[in-house]
Formats: sequence, structure tokens, C-alpha cells
Amino acid sequence: MIEYFPMNESHVSSVAQLEKLCFSDPWSERSIASELANPLSCWLVAMDGDQLAGYVGSQTVLGESDMMNIAVSPDYRRRGIAQSLVEALVASLKALDSHCLTLEVRDSNEPAIALYEKLGFSQVGLRKGYYRNPKEDARILRKEWTL
Ligand SMILES: CC(C)(COP(=O)(O)OP(=O)(O)OC[C@H]1O[C@@H](n2cnc3c(N)ncnc32)[C@H](O)[C@@H]1OP(=O)(O)O)[C@@H](O)C(=O)NCCC(=O)NCCS
Repeated sequence: MIEYFPMNESHVSSVAQLEKLCFSDPWSERSIASELANPLSCWLVAMDGDQLAGYVGSQTVLGESDMMNIAVSPDYRRRGIAQSLVEALVASLKALDSHCLTLEVRDSNEPAIALYEKLGFSQVGLRKGYYRNPKEDARILRKEWTL
């Protein structure tokens, strides 16, 4: 059974490993650990017992939240875990009086774009050449809700 928790120190090294596996420009373990002490940050993990299945991270400033990253381990994909992580994140952000969640996604990342469309995100912009390794445009997507 998959369970969802706020990230704590015991999760950091597995989150960093999954981050490295999934992204060409990953957050370091130290940067992820520093999110635990950041009052603006909200990171959640999906756990299968002791095994990390996925995570999502966000920061909120003045009622507006940004999703920093989301990833699900290849062994756990297409089971609704990313969807549950985003839904749990939105519930947590509402409790923090946030009213929207914005993110960047690679223009070619079809699985992630399909996920965000399913969850009601809309494109609000495009950042030309935003990503490196390889260089690529970022779609800016946002979901807003009433508190
Ligand atoms: C994108 C990612 C987080 C999706 O995780 P997931 O747990 O497999 O996604 P879910 O099972 O919750 O999928 C929910 C919906 O997203 C869409 N989706 C997810 N993966 C998809 C895929 N490979 N192809 C098409 N649609 C997909 C579908 O609409 C799916 O609903 P459905 O299964 O009812 O059709 C995962 O593929 C991943 O970690 N990718 C690498 C990291 C990454 O790209 N992160 C996004 C950075 S912006």
C-alpha cells in the first residue's frame, strides 16, 4: 500500500537518488535537505513501506506556490501515484492559504504534460530555452483554486 507523508530527514537520500535518476540537472542531496528547514517549502513523499515510490516539492511565497519537482520511480509509474502526490500537495497548500500552483515542464515531456492536463493545469506561458542538458523550452502551467 502506498502512503503519503511530509518529507523528513530519513527520506532525503532516497529522494536525491530518484532525482538523479529522473533529471539531467538534478537537485543535490544538500539542496533537498535544506528544504526541510525552509519555512516556505512543502515536500511530500509516497512510500511503499520503507521504499520511496515518489516525491513532490514546492515553495510558497505570498499565497502563490511553485512546484519545484515531481518524480515517481520507474517501477511505480502509471499507478496514480503522481496524481495522488499533486492532489495531496494541493490540499496541503490550501491549508497554507495558497491559491495557485505554478510549474515548468519540458515541452517534450508528454507524460508529465498529460498528468498536469488531467489535473486541470492550464498553460500560462512559455520560457524559451529555459532548460539545459538538453536545451529546451519550458511550458509554464498553472492551477488556481478558491480558498
Ligand atoms: C511524470 C510522472 C511524474 C508521472 O508519474 P505517474 O505516477 O506514472 O503518473 P500517474 O500514474 O499518477 O498518472 C496520472 C495521469 O497522468 C498521465 N500520464 C502519466 N504518465 C503517462 C504516460 N507515460 N503517458 C501518457 N500519459 C501519462 C495520464 O493521464 C495518467 O492518468 P491515467 O493513468 O488514468 O491515464 C513520471 O512519469 C515521472 O516521474 N517522470 C520522470 C520525472 C518527470 O518528468 N517529472 C516531471 C517534471 S515537470
